[in-house]
Amino acid sequence: MDRAIGVIDSGVGGLTVAHELMRQLPKERLIYLGDTARCPYGPRSEAEVKQFTGEMVAFLMEKQIKMLVIACNTATAFALEDLQKQLDIPVIGVIQPGARAAIKTTVNGHIGVIGTEGTVRSEAYPNALKRIKEELDVTALACPLFAPIVERGILTGPEAEKVVNDSLGPIKAHQRIDTLILGCTHYPLLKGTIQKAVGDHVAIISSGEETARETSTILDVHGLLYKGDRTPRHAFYTTGDLEIFTNISRKIFNSSVEHLESVTIEHAVI
Ligand code: SIN
Repeated sequence: MDRAIGVIDSGVGGLTVAHELMRQLPKERLIYLGDTARCPYGPRSEAEVKQFTGEMVAFLMEKQIKMLVIACNTATAFALEDLQKQLDIPVIGVIQPGARAAIKTTVNGHIGVIGTEGTVRSEAYPNALKRIKEELDVTALACPLFAPIVERGILTGPEAEKVVNDSLGPIKAHQRIDTLILGCTHYPLLKGTIQKAVGDHVAIISSGEETARETSTILDVHGLLYKGDRTPRHAFYTTGDLEIFTNISRKIFNSSVEHLESVTIEHAVI
């Protein structure tokens, strides 16, 4: 099963999920597409997010991917169900895995979720959490300033700390939250700053690890796992600026990504 796993995100945030996929599935080849030119998706309408996500998927389907990972919470919230019905390959998002990881972690049942306006508006996390365990107390908060600063490469320092501290007021005030879901794949890049703001008594969950585990299980169940021995050649595509993408990917992978190309995807259809 030589075909690649496709990974899509609105920008660079999904690289945190790609990193975890590479760690857990070192023989699998990834093709990553970040729609950096139109990031953030968070403030956009449901119709727009669905359209842009569909355009990303069309680009990757032409590359014959064997499975799709939607490594963007906003796109997962609005487009996952449609894509699971439309495509003849397995499709997963990052919300269910993140919800499951938080339920395994919380001790007192008080869970915070931070995400984009779109993800919070969709109520996808509270719904996913309560479907598994109804009695949970879930506090969701939109942090619209986080994804834009991450896309600018501001991950630590005074500006990042001010944005994070100011935005997280309601989560800090809640006091009983013991588990906080980073409901946007950009946020793990701010994890140190977020942890400092909420305190060490709060466990922080990023869905990358659980999403990679689920990807592995699904590939196995469908007989799609690569069984040979190889060092795979991944490919990365961005609709935006190559330099910004390169700088952030270097921070995540501790090295430059191999094949990186800038592409245009508007008006592609599945
Ligand atoms: C965004 O595009 O606004 C952030 C990506 C995400 O929701 O994970």
